[in-house]
Amino acid sequence: MLKLGVNIDHVATVRQARRTFEPDPVRAAMICELAGADGIVAHLREDRRHMQDRDLELIKSTLNIKLNLEMAAIGEMVGKALSLLPDQVTLVPEKREELTTEGGLKVQGKEKELSRVVDELQGRGVTVSLFVDPVEDEIRASLETGARSVELHTGGYAESFLKGEFKGELERLVNAVGVAKKLGFAVHAGHGLTYQNAGYVAEIAGIEELNIGHTIIARAVFLGLERAVKDMIALIGK
Ligand code: PXP
Repeated sequence: MLKLGVNIDHVATVRQARRTFEPDPVRAAMICELAGADGIVAHLREDRRHMQDRDLELIKSTLNIKLNLEMAAIGEMVGKALSLLPDQVTLVPEKREELTTEGGLKVQGKEKELSRVVDELQGRGVTVSLFVDPVEDEIRASLETGARSVELHTGGYAESFLKGEFKGELERLVNAVGVAKKLGFAVHAGHGLTYQNAGYVAEIAGIEELNIGHTIIARAVFLGLERAVKDMIALIGK
């Protein structure tokens, strides 16, 4: 069955807006586990704009489902991953000025550099996945790094869905999954998936896991808002 990894960065983003203790992404991870999620996805950024080191340490020590750490392939993060030892690391490109991860990793030309990181992590039992655009050459290049898994970037598909013309992008994903499967990769997909557009991707045979964050946290806010207001009204005795 298709697995769901829930990205909880967006909970930490709300906390960091006030630099306070709530909402705590560690609690969010526990609720996701109780709700049946197969894994937690968290991106530790160099600028620590949302998840903090402490969050990952607590999640790692309390969670019983897969922890998938998203990170840039840089020395500081490799060091963190080697001490944290998550189940999986997903290598993503990272630019300081971006709102979120904008494109897939540029693997072509960087195979050697990436393979050193992949070797170090896989040597310690951490599965490595590369977040790549659904482009055949990038998937083929990924094989040379030694990574055993790729996460296909669904951002282009999500954008095309908003414009109402998504068949071409969906086809691109289907072809990319075919290429990746033929090369022996475990295939994951994610970014920009929503309650509206995820169904078509979920139907693609060969994808093992979808990693979804923003839309789930956005829905959670509205599912919980009425109760939260009622709780405050009761508290202040209105
Ligand atoms: N997968 C990867 C590699 C990502 O970088 C992100 C966003 O952090 C996601 C999945 C989840 O994307 P979204 O929050 O748009 O669902």
